[in-house]
Amino acid sequence: MSDSPRRGRSSLAEAFRDKSVLVTGHTGFKGAWLSSWLLGLGARVAGFALSPPTEPSLFDKLGLDRCMAHRIGDVRDLEAVGQRVDEVEPEVVFHLAAQSIVRVSYSEPIETFATNVLGTAHVLEAIRQRGRPCVVLIVTSDKCYENREQKVALAEDDPLGGRDPYSASKGAAEIVTAAYRRSFFPLGQYEAHGVAVASARAGNVIGGGDWATDRLVPDIVRAVAEGQPPELRHPEAVRPWQHVLDALAGYLRLAQLMLDDGPSGLAEAWNFGPLDDPAEPVLTVGELTDRILDRWTDGSRMTWAAAPQPAAPHEARYLRLDARKAVARLGWRPVWNVERTVDETVRWYREDHERGDMASFTAAQIRDYCASAQRSGLGWVTGPERRRAR
Ligand SMILES: NC(=O)c1ccc[n+]([C@@H]2O[C@H](COP(=O)([O-])OP(=O)(O)OC[C@H]3O[C@@H](n4cnc5c(N)ncnc54)[C@H](O)[C@@H]3O)[C@@H](O)[C@H]2O)c1
Repeated sequence: MSDSPRRGRSSLAEAFRDKSVLVTGHTGFKGAWLSSWLLGLGARVAGFALSPPTEPSLFDKLGLDRCMAHRIGDVRDLEAVGQRVDEVEPEVVFHLAAQSIVRVSYSEPIETFATNVLGTAHVLEAIRQRGRPCVVLIVTSDKCYENREQKVALAEDDPLGGRDPYSASKGAAEIVTAAYRRSFFPLGQYEAHGVAVASARAGNVIGGGDWATDRLVPDIVRAVAEGQPPELRHPEAVRPWQHVLDALAGYLRLAQLMLDDGPSGLAEAWNFGPLDDPAEPVLTVGELTDRILDRWTDGSRMTWAAAPQPAAPHEARYLRLDARKAVARLGWRPVWNVERTVDETVRWYREDHERGDMASFTAAQIRDYCASAQRSGLGWVTGPERRRAR
């Protein structure tokens, strides 16, 4: 496979306009952003997920139940997944539904494995049973790797693993995906089955509209609202922080190229994360929190506190992704640096705090992101059209 970037014949809007797209996990943080972006691209977007996992939720704030074909359903139920595939007849499937919180996976390991491993198998099996040609992107995680915390960025061919149930479930979802691809959707028989399956491993994404428990930004937002210093469990931990739109641009690009060109050189695993850039500092949890607090409180020097250690189960101290393959071969790269990512995230929550129209604000933020991407030479990144004044 050559390392020269794929050009793709289309922009995102050209690729997704009028396409039938099924998003599992559309009621969650990333799923709601992705559905919103796809709607802006003119796709026919259908969802399949449990109810929004948080209250409030981005799904409710954006009124997505009125804009897309919303359906509550459980990926642990193969028949229900199959029915949804029958109804939607998807040309593209983004599988994001998951039990997504490491700490919850310690208290509910069986539910985590059932949702994340069996749920992934059910999505692929429903497509296999129906012989439905489509592009499938299985979203796993940067945590799917055997992370020995050796201070190196993990690349796609590093061993899979996972010490806690969440990480192990995502490693297992990768293995299930590869097994389905090799057994049922092999590259050499693409003309016959028509299914292109890739997986995406993104780092810790941040952005407005996340209210999950035990995630850094929502924890900070809640603490600031209560006038309390945020409590950090692992302030020294290093994570591949990126704006949610940077990760989603990678997912959309991969699906766009598979729609344009078929699976060759694409139906495999892909990392999406910040690049190793001397101008871009690798931030610890504590440093990122400092930046968010500084921006949120206009420099009034609010600080954080370290959480009592016995309460915290193990979470990796060091996790970085090597995303050079996606840069070289997909022509993708992160667009917003840490400073802009923090700025846009804080702007979103402030706007919400001031009771802004979050659907318009979110669409405008996607447009701003696309404009930044275009300016940086990523001409394929397109988003919602601005509504024309009458
Ligand atoms: N947010 C991050 O930083 C991050 C990082 C790496 C990977 N991921 C992965 O990205 C995906 C989306 O993450 P998110 O942050 O939006 O998570 P989220 O928790 O906000 O949303 C999860 C979604 O999955 C749905 N869901 C959960 N269990 C389900 C079930 N049994 N059946 C059907 N739907 C179910 C929820 O209803 C929700 O729509 C997940 O696969 C997650 O593991 C997220």
